[in-house]
Amino acid sequence: MNLLLNFLLLSLFGLIKTDLLSKCRLQNPSPYGTGIGFPRVKNRVNSVGILNVSVLFVDFNDNPANRTTQDIFSIISPTSEAFFFKSSYGRLQVKLRPYFKWLRMSKRSIDYNMSPSISYTAQKAYISEASSLAKGWDFSTSQLIVVMTNPYVYAVPYGPTFNANLGGGFTVNGKVFENAVSSGKDLLYWKGYWLNHEMSHAMGLPDLYEYASGSQFKFTGGWSIMGNINGLGREYFGWERWLLGWIQDSQIICGTFTIHSYLRVTLTAIEIPNGLKLIVVPIAENKAVVIESRKKYGFDDKITKPGLLVYLVDSSSRGGTGPIKVLPLNLNDNNKMNATMSVGSEFNYENIKIFYQSSSSTTDDVIVFKH
Ligand SMILES: *[C@@H]1O[C@H](CO)[C@@H](O)[C@H](O)[C@H]1NC(C)=O
Ligand SMILES: *[C@@H]1O[C@H](CO)[C@@H](O)[C@H](O)[C@H]1NC(C)=O
Ligand SMILES: *[C@@H]1O[C@H](CO)[C@@H](O)[C@H](O)[C@H]1NC(C)=O
Repeated sequence: MNLLLNFLLLSLFGLIKTDLLSKCRLQNPSPYGTGIGFPRVKNRVNSVGILNVSVLFVDFNDNPANRTTQDIFSIISPTSEAFFFKSSYGRLQVKLRPYFKWLRMSKRSIDYNMSPSISYTAQKAYISEASSLAKGWDFSTSQLIVVMTNPYVYAVPYGPTFNANLGGGFTVNGKVFENAVSSGKDLLYWKGYWLNHEMSHAMGLPDLYEYASGSQFKFTGGWSIMGNINGLGREYFGWERWLLGWIQDSQIICGTFTIHSYLRVTLTAIEIPNGLKLIVVPIAENKAVVIESRKKYGFDDKITKPGLLVYLVDSSSRGGTGPIKVLPLNLNDNNKMNATMSVGSEFNYENIKIFYQSSSSTTDDVIVFKH
């Protein structure tokens, strides 16, 4: 009887706990491609544990490589493995396994239709051919394929991610891959962090920059590698880390409080492990206001104004259309490095009032009211 009662109480407690956080775990309404809502899109690669990646190198008769594969590999490694390890607080270990040989593609570079933009089918065919050229390479323990293109090829200007539709992957040596990345000429501009951005798509994260022409970084400025790869605040948003499983549920404060009540929370900087990381205040079925602490550590070491960063998450918004928007909304500011709050200041959004009470070198104290 006692055992049964205990079991019932535990289950009930578990249910309540789950339910409290579920209001904050905004749902992804269209679970394909990429998305900022929960759960991560089903056929993306794991974002925790060991991720084995086969790295291939291709060139063309009309554009033979003039640098060694080792030289090109050194652009992405060890930069990208280190970035993932640090950003995930050690939870994700990416193992890049290079096949150090230039594989010669069968057609001229222009014949792959990779310019001016790259279609789903063109990229799938490109990566599929590259993989088939790696005769004898063991793909059986890899979850992802990265094709590095000779970076001086004008007909391959961009390096996007191939996110297959569910069941729409390509087969190499009998193994189906639904996630892959190919590089382009822009590798030389973005350098190694380019791979972190692209592989994050393979894990399901959407683009935070804007696809429509105009002010490209108007939503998130220099915050998060999914916005501007070379931004000064390129560390991932806490929300992105939560979605990837790098921040635990126990590190989230879900502000589902009633009107006229308040929360007082000490947040630990996102760049360092442990502590409470996010306050999430849901404001609509697919929308929440999120508060986190950003300090000059790790890959944020060049930010100009450490402090509380407030943003809006909209899980119904697709990549390129503003799934995350830094607050206050100021679409003319493409940088937003000064969008962080100042100690002692207060910020209002809808019926939420955020007061930045005090700060230490690694933490920020914040009071959130609902009125
Ligand atoms: C390789 O070729 C490109 C374009 O033709 C050139 O800009 C670059 O300097 C060359 N690199 C080397 C190492 O020869
Ligand atoms: C990664 O590769 C290693 C060495 O080939 C293998 O032992 C391991 O099982 C692989 N891990 C996964 C998750 O496939
Ligand atoms: C941010 O604020 C600092 C100090 O006021 C100023 O020097 C800097 O130009 C600002 N940066 C941007 C991008 O507005």
